[in-house]
Amino acid sequence: MYKIKTYNQISVKGLEKFSREKYEVGSDIAHPDAILLRSHKLHGDPLPESVLAVARAGAGVNNVPVEELSQKGIVVFNTPGANANAVKELVLAGLLLGSRGILRGVGYLSTLHDMTDAAELHKLLEDQKKNFAGNELYGKTLGIIGLGAIGSLVADMALALGMKVVGFDPALSIEAAWRLSSQVQKAENMYALLARCDYVSLHVPALPVTKHMINAEALNQAKKGMVLLNFARETIVDPNAIVEALNQGKLKNYVCDFPEPVFYGREDVLALPHIGASTAEAEENCAIMGADQLIEYLENGNIKNS
Ligand code: MLT
Repeated sequence: MYKIKTYNQISVKGLEKFSREKYEVGSDIAHPDAILLRSHKLHGDPLPESVLAVARAGAGVNNVPVEELSQKGIVVFNTPGANANAVKELVLAGLLLGSRGILRGVGYLSTLHDMTDAAELHKLLEDQKKNFAGNELYGKTLGIIGLGAIGSLVADMALALGMKVVGFDPALSIEAAWRLSSQVQKAENMYALLARCDYVSLHVPALPVTKHMINAEALNQAKKGMVLLNFARETIVDPNAIVEALNQGKLKNYVCDFPEPVFYGREDVLALPHIGASTAEAEENCAIMGADQLIEYLENGNIKNS
């Protein structure tokens, strides 16, 4: 009997992959053969000697001490691409939120809830509407830094919206290169991309080499009035440099999928509570892929990170 320790937020569809005859699955298993987790931070957790593999139901593995586990011979899996569509769709929302007066408009209307006279309301809105004007995405240039599973889907979506797309990825995989439309222009470096884009979306993992890659020096190169989207990881940007760039008008808006205290109260920052991968479909896909990876490894010794 194999034992699998799970943490909360693992979709039932993933758990159903483990047959009752062969697997014991639960959150309170003392000596598991493997761990299946989503966002739980494994750093600092005393890991039972029995663990052979850890599967992270998601793309990023920054909540797992990968190097430490690898040194002990414990295999670490992630689920590349399994939630890419969910993130892509939220990037679309981010592009719209960053370019149209949606939130300000909704916020304004919510202050008028006791205004019942339709004619008066109409007149007021005629005056106020100019405050909520925005820009269209069509014809604008989107820069994508990181052209992996998510970045390449974002590229396709932006092309379908009539945007021009410029990409930069120093570690472009052959698979991603095949997937990418020929209409995605390649920038020679990140600075060249920042200089020519109206919108820039970040899709690189949290690694020592990507920490604060969007810093003051990078933002100095940015096209004035750019909208920056970060649905990847908060460590990629230097938050103080973002504040400075917003204050100087270099950045028009920063749209991100993380709360960051330094941005609280700012109208030009739209922060979400890390919900890029939070769709029923993505949660199922990730849990199923993670469960399959563990089953394949435990039963057949195969390492299949897809
Ligand atoms: C990811 O890295 O794919 C996301 O952080 C997934 C999640 O929200 O669990």
